[in-house]
Amino acid sequence: MTTLKAVRGTRDLLPPETALWNRIEATARDVFARYNFGEIRTPLFEDTGLFARGVGEETDIVSKEMYTWEDRARAQSEKSQSLTLRPENTAGVVRAYIEHKLGETGQLQKLYYIGPQFRRERPQKGRYRQFSQIGAEVIGPPSAGSESPLRDAEVLEMLATLLDELGIHGWTLHLNSVGSAADRARYNETLRAALIPLAPKMCADCQRRAVTNPLRVLDCKVPEDQPIIDTLPVIADSLDETSRAHFAQVTAALDAAGVPYTRNHRLVRGLDYYTRTTFEFTHGGLGAQNALLGGGRYDGLSEAIGGPKAPGIGFAMGEDRLVLTLQAQEAAAPQVPPKADAYIAPLGESMDAAALALARELRHKGLQIELGDGSFRLKKSFETADKTARHIVILGEDELKSGILTVKNFATTNQSKVSRAELAELLSQ
Ligand code: HAM
Repeated sequence: MTTLKAVRGTRDLLPPETALWNRIEATARDVFARYNFGEIRTPLFEDTGLFARGVGEETDIVSKEMYTWEDRARAQSEKSQSLTLRPENTAGVVRAYIEHKLGETGQLQKLYYIGPQFRRERPQKGRYRQFSQIGAEVIGPPSAGSESPLRDAEVLEMLATLLDELGIHGWTLHLNSVGSAADRARYNETLRAALIPLAPKMCADCQRRAVTNPLRVLDCKVPEDQPIIDTLPVIADSLDETSRAHFAQVTAALDAAGVPYTRNHRLVRGLDYYTRTTFEFTHGGLGAQNALLGGGRYDGLSEAIGGPKAPGIGFAMGEDRLVLTLQAQEAAAPQVPPKADAYIAPLGESMDAAALALARELRHKGLQIELGDGSFRLKKSFETADKTARHIVILGEDELKSGILTVKNFATTNQSKVSRAELAELLSQ
């Protein structure tokens, strides 16, 4: 029989790597709480129309990467429905914002999420078909200040703080403005015209995009096309006064806060909902898939999916890529994996129950305990303990009766006798 394996582009995450995932998520939750964000959890699948209308039919995500199926009706009263595993979470958050009338509170909604997303991309390092994003969105009615450039700058400053607190060194913030919907439309036409004589010299994808969605030409990675793309008009020249002023205020606030960034005229992002500020944080250690995170403003998304005017800005970090970056950093400067405080070695199976009771007592005091097994010979207990814990505690008949335990500290090789009451104190050292 052939053995079954995890599906291509999906992976199992095992200890000790999962500890790193948990640390990243705990740091993110802690930072989000300090910036007064609350958690939102939306379903893993949605009506296909949400992504078609929200993310855009012409985007790579919607046109080729979605896991979509026809969900058959189970009863006469039901209709079959086209459903899709979420390829990203912004559309779902905005759908929830509309559905729960969050705009009627009149307040800015500051929401974060952590969870799996699904895209049928070609798997490679840093690119998976199931991957995890840590993201956040700030959205609300214009009266709540949702269009303010200060919101953009605050989100970017929060990201700089989060990456620093995660211990990610050497990131670069790429920043651009794709303007309002009208600016974008104008730039699209400028690009379309500029591409007419150039497109025939470009790759097949660019030739198609030059007609269907000229902005996407700027995402092209084909080396031969790069010199041509460098000659194309830049979007900054198509921005109207309001968009220019908005962007200038974002950069002024970043300058004041001391958050470094580089202007990147080609950063138009692969999703259609973006307006004005767009950004990506990259990291050199990631190779081809070098975007740690991406995001931007989406002032018209709510209306595009049938909601009220609700400008917003947000981002999503690729958690898999954060993990890869931190692992690479750790490989360059290895750290000793943390060990449990103590290993309890019952001397014989008759001591197993008493050992469990002792482990419970110590764990309740906050210690990290590895519980051994009475069937092990003492030598095997010592060997196992040395690999997993800082101390070994021997528990035999005598120790149980007298309440005096033998403890060895592996680092100092000191062996000492200690009363049960003082044991936790000794083990925590
Ligand atoms: P995105 O640029 O499509 O934006 O994805 C954000 C991040 O998710 C990427 O920078 C990358 O780190 C990670 N990512 C994307 N695809 C994969 C993959 N196949 N494997 C591993 N990691 C991946 C969005 O998703 C927007 N919803 C971000 C946003 C939020 N914009 C406004 N609000």
